[in-house]
Amino acid sequence: MNIEQYIQRIPKAELHIHIEGSFEPELMFQIAKRNQIDIKYKSVEEVKAAYKFGNLQDFLDIYYAGAGVLQKEQDFYDLTWAYIERAKAENVVHTELFFDPQTHTNRGLAFETVINGIDRALCDAKEKLGISSKLIMCFLRHLSEEAAFETLAQSLPFKNKIIAVGLDSSELGFPPEKFERVFAKARQEGFLTVAHAGEEGPAQYIWQALDLLKVSRIDHGNNCLTDKKLVKRLVEEQIPLTVCPLSNLSLRVVKDLKLHPIKQMLAKNLMVTINSDDPAYFGGYLLQNYLQLAKALNLTTDEISLLAQNSIKASFLSSHEKAQWLSNSEF
Ligand code: ADE
Ligand code: ZN
Repeated sequence: MNIEQYIQRIPKAELHIHIEGSFEPELMFQIAKRNQIDIKYKSVEEVKAAYKFGNLQDFLDIYYAGAGVLQKEQDFYDLTWAYIERAKAENVVHTELFFDPQTHTNRGLAFETVINGIDRALCDAKEKLGISSKLIMCFLRHLSEEAAFETLAQSLPFKNKIIAVGLDSSELGFPPEKFERVFAKARQEGFLTVAHAGEEGPAQYIWQALDLLKVSRIDHGNNCLTDKKLVKRLVEEQIPLTVCPLSNLSLRVVKDLKLHPIKQMLAKNLMVTINSDDPAYFGGYLLQNYLQLAKALNLTTDEISLLAQNSIKASFLSSHEKAQWLSNSEF
């Protein structure tokens, strides 16, 4: 069995995937056409040629423009279902998806249009394909605290469909502390919390996410390695990091996959997991993230197995569900 077959066979959970980041250009054109929206690119090839990013902000500008094509509940269903079919093909057995309601409500869409489309696809994923899922609502950190409070209020009628709140978008200059109060309110309402931190931002933002936002996981977290005390804390508490190798390469967080710090992270006993972030933009879904990383760093099957087992352990599944997946004979 070669390494690709091994990665394919083992059960995997994905914990860091923005559903808007799985929007493939082909589907974007299809949905734009039926919604009678003009996109500024003429062809799928032209769109893909534009996917060259110097940093996070370059990517976000294109990503928010792409999401503007989504208008109807069915659009959100189709987007989510397309991702679920990819997940099924790669033996992703459980997925925890981010969605960015403000990207859509700021364009005049109703919160319920977004969540109902996504949720209906996730119910079908469970029923038809046996894939379990959780939904995480992200606040856009470049927007105000007040806007985040408003979004939190809009989400409350749909509380049973959302496990956690998160924080994404432009990181530098938008520290977690800005959202301390809205995260406190979200926790009071029963949501778990996660946050993007240490992707482009400093280790200080990871401290803030832990201490002020009381997060269960750190999304990305690469820059923790610049702070020994922080690494010690993350290891002691086994706080999961949802690392995204192809995203890191595309957004120049790392220069080359051969320089990716995942081996150092494993060596320090950090609870790291592999994820795709925005697979339609970064050149690969979960399997490609494992495979390209494994090839670049000569990962062993034991290391790959550990990463996949970490993904189950770091998920928001129940202890019973985790134990069931972890006893799988493919590991
Ligand atoms: N939104 C989608 N992908 C993101 C990323 N990698 N960092 C911050 N915000 C995002
Ligand atoms: Zn992300």
